Amino acid sequence: MAAPSDFKPIIVGFLCNWCCYGGADLCGVSRFQYPPYLRVIRLMCSGRVDLEFIFRAFAKKSDGVFIGGCHLNDCHYNPEGNYDALGNSIVAKRILENIGVNPDRLRLEWVSAGEGIRFAEIMNEFGAKIKSLGPFGSSEGRDVADLQAGLEAATQLVPYFKLVERERFRVPKRTEDGYHEFFSRPDFEPLFKELILDKLTMGRIMGALRAGESSAGDIAQKLRLDPADIARHLHLLSQQGMVRMNGSQAQIAVAA
Ligand code: FES
Repeated sequence: MAAPSDFKPIIVGFLCNWCCYGGADLCGVSRFQYPPYLRVIRLMCSGRVDLEFIFRAFAKKSDGVFIGGCHLNDCHYNPEGNYDALGNSIVAKRILENIGVNPDRLRLEWVSAGEGIRFAEIMNEFGAKIKSLGPFGSSEGRDVADLQAGLEAATQLVPYFKLVERERFRVPKRTEDGYHEFFSRPDFEPLFKELILDKLTMGRIMGALRAGESSAGDIAQKLRLDPADIARHLHLLSQQGMVRMNGSQAQIAVAA
């Protein structure tokens, strides 16, 4: 669906104080032009951008989320907070995709305090991209309330996702290529599905059942997931005592 021509996107920008925020400031002082879509949140490091910040920004109907950090190996903390931001953004994009949110709505870039022109170029490009995607939910062809329910389920699982990231997604090579290699390994897909996506699907099923009892087919249609996968998860949830099956209908068994 084409975005309305008067559409003015809202982009939440998490900018590292030491680099990208300086770049944005220089951009303004130098009077480089970019569209006025950005709502800036200044943080001390891009590594501070929690998955929850990203999901909440979209749940509040931001049309795009931008993360701006220091160039790799120039981070002032940890000393590699921006590598954490890189890992988080890769994981966040895959989770957003699973929920039904277009992952292109999230962008991570490295901008130094001296790169005002680069900041303007990125904002012009990202602003145009988000404008072409249209309001949150429109390019997805999804009901915003359904996307918000998925984001809420993901937000509730953030502590668990962080644990998985720390324990199971430790990238051996702290380089940009090392990260992309790690996350595109063939054996990573089944691991990601088992540890992240299956858990998320269960959370989303529980969220759907809070609205009332439902069949596997109806839940699959609502979440736009494979009915066989939903049936398998309902079986697991019923074994765990979270869901009670009444014929083909499932309902929540415990207050969750
Ligand atoms: Fe800028 Fe860490 S201090 S990304």
